[in-house]
Amino acid sequence: MDTLNDKPLLEVNNLSKYFHGKQTVLNRLMKKPPPKLVALDGVTLNLNRNETLGLVGESGSGKSTTACCIIRLYEPDNGSILYNGQDVLAAHADELREIRREVQLIYQDPYKSLNPRMTVRATISEPAKVHGLVDRAGGEKLVKNLLDRVGLPSTVADLRPRALSGGQRQRVAIARALSLRPKIIIADEAVSALDVSIQAQILNLFEELRRDLGLSMILIAHQLSVVAHLSQNVAIMYLGRIVEIGSTSEVFLRPRHPYTAALLKAHPSIETSRCHTPALTGEIPSPYSIPKGCRFNTRCKFTDALCFEVDPPSTEVTPGHYAWCHVLPEYDKITSKQS
Ligand SMILES: Nc1ncnc2c1ncn2[C@@H]1O[C@H](COP(=O)(O)OP(=O)(O)O)[C@@H](O)[C@H]1O
Ligand SMILES: [Mg+2]
Repeated sequence: MDTLNDKPLLEVNNLSKYFHGKQTVLNRLMKKPPPKLVALDGVTLNLNRNETLGLVGESGSGKSTTACCIIRLYEPDNGSILYNGQDVLAAHADELREIRREVQLIYQDPYKSLNPRMTVRATISEPAKVHGLVDRAGGEKLVKNLLDRVGLPSTVADLRPRALSGGQRQRVAIARALSLRPKIIIADEAVSALDVSIQAQILNLFEELRRDLGLSMILIAHQLSVVAHLSQNVAIMYLGRIVEIGSTSEVFLRPRHPYTAALLKAHPSIETSRCHTPALTGEIPSPYSIPKGCRFNTRCKFTDALCFEVDPPSTEVTPGHYAWCHVLPEYDKITSKQS
C-alpha cells in the first residue's frame, strides 16, 4: 500500500491563474470585462522528497506566479495543490501559516526582501520567535548556528543589510528561511542578480542544504545553466504552461520540445550532444492574447497545420519525460543542421 512518504512532497495539478489588466474605454462602452492576462494555464508538476526541481523559462512565462500560488500569496483560479498530502487551497488560516513556514520562498533581490533597519541577528531570529520555535536564549544560539551553516562569520550579526555584499545578503535571506525549519525552499531567481562566481557559491550552498538537511527545492531560473547541475528533474515553462518536463539528463540530452532545444542552444556550456539546434527567434507573445493551437507556434520551425488549430496534449516520450508538442521532432531532427 502507498504511504504518504512514497508520494511527492508537493503535487501541483492543472494550476491556472489569471490577472485582469486595466479596463479600456472601448471595453467599458461595450460592457465587456477588462482584458484577461493568462499567467498560468494548467501547470502540473511534482516535487519529490529531497530532490531539486528546476523550473526554467523566459521572463514572463509564469515561474514566479507558480511559486506565489503554491503558498497562496496569489489565489489560483483553478487547479489543486497538495503539500504532504494536504490540500493547500482548502487550508484554513492556521494551517496556511504552518504551510508557509514549511515552504519558504527566497527572492532574487535580498535587498528588497530584507528589512534595511533590522540587524542580521534580528532578521534571522525574529521569525522563529514569532512562530514560537525559540526563546531569547535559543534565538542567540540559532543565529550563531545558522550564520555558520550559510558560511557567514558571526561578526555579521550586528550589521544591517546595507553593510553586506549581494552574496552575503542572499546568505542572510537563506539563513532566515532556514530559521523556520522549512521542508521546501523555493528559490525564485535567487542567484540571478549575483556575479557568476558568487552564483556558484550560493548554488553549492543550496545543494549542501538539500543534502545535509533533507530539504526539497524548486530552483527557478531563466537560464538553464543555473539549474543544470543541481536538479534531478527539470520543467520548461512557456507562456504559462509547462511544455517539457522530465529528468534533467533526459531533457537536456534528448530534448523533444523545439523550445527546450532552442533554450539549450543559448547555453553552449551545457553538455548536450546537439550541435545545430534552431535558435530561438522572435518575442514571447503577449499573455493577453495567447496564440491559438500550440502557444509556441509563432516561433517554432517545425509547425504543421495542426499546430495552429489544436493545443497539443502531452506525450510521454520516455518514462517520466513528457513534451507538449504535435510534431515532436525526432531528437536527431532538432539536433541536426537546421538554421
Ligand atoms: N500581480 C500581477 N498583476 C498582473 N499581472 C501579473 C502579476 N504578476 C505577474 N503578472 C503577469 O503574469 C505573467 C507571468 O509573470 P511571472 O510569473 O512573474 O513570470 P516569470 O517569473 O516567469 O518572469 C506575466 O505576463 C506578468 O506580467
Ligand atoms: Mg519571476
